[in-house]
Amino acid sequence: MIQACIFDLDGVLVDTAVYHYQAWKRLANEMGFDFTEEQNEQLKGISRMDSLDKILGWGQQQKTPEEKALLAARKNGWYVEMIGKMTPAEILPGALDFLKAARAAGLKTGLGSASKNSALILERTGLLPYFDVLVDGNHVTKSKPDPEVFVTCAQQLGIANENCVVFEDAEAGVQAAKAAHMKCVGIGSTGALTSANRVVPDLVHLTPQDLNNL
Ligand code: BG6
Ligand code: MG
Repeated sequence: MIQACIFDLDGVLVDTAVYHYQAWKRLANEMGFDFTEEQNEQLKGISRMDSLDKILGWGQQQKTPEEKALLAARKNGWYVEMIGKMTPAEILPGALDFLKAARAAGLKTGLGSASKNSALILERTGLLPYFDVLVDGNHVTKSKPDPEVFVTCAQQLGIANENCVVFEDAEAGVQAAKAAHMKCVGIGSTGALTSANRVVPDLVHLTPQDLNNL
């Protein structure tokens, strides 16, 4: 029986992908190359440093670990500037009502995000009070598709993995949920995220009662 919901942040609760894309694109452009929105899809759910490695690969750039750290910090500076202006209007459709309904139904709620900026985003959008536990990129060493972020969240919630449902918009996150032996609801277009137990376009199309039939 489902006892907890663990939410990814970017692309599930808020639409920050566009800010990540703008900041990475600016960095790539400074280095003299560009990448497409299609390539950007591959960056969803993976850590900042893994994203940088992919982008450097696309631009055929060799960088030392020190240079990479500076590049990632540069991108993050621009990203933080943008998310620092976010408002509750940027919460994705259905997300707030679903969080409220899940808690009203007695389910625990946790965050399981790769981002190291989750606190700022949750604060800016007013979502912070709706979580029992927050686990993000600051608390784990292995990034999705490794299940560490979700397993840590379930442990902190005190709920067995089998009784948790993960909400994910990225393939790496769906793989992480499966590796943790959790149920998974994919947020996005049907056709993608095929290993999720169910895929919905957004959280408008789901109620907490649906979670026991995954
Ligand atoms: C994930 C995003 O939620 O967080 C990725 O989907 C991003 O695109 C990752 O790279 C890390 O985010 P941040 O905020 O720590 O750079
Ligand atoms: Mg995501």
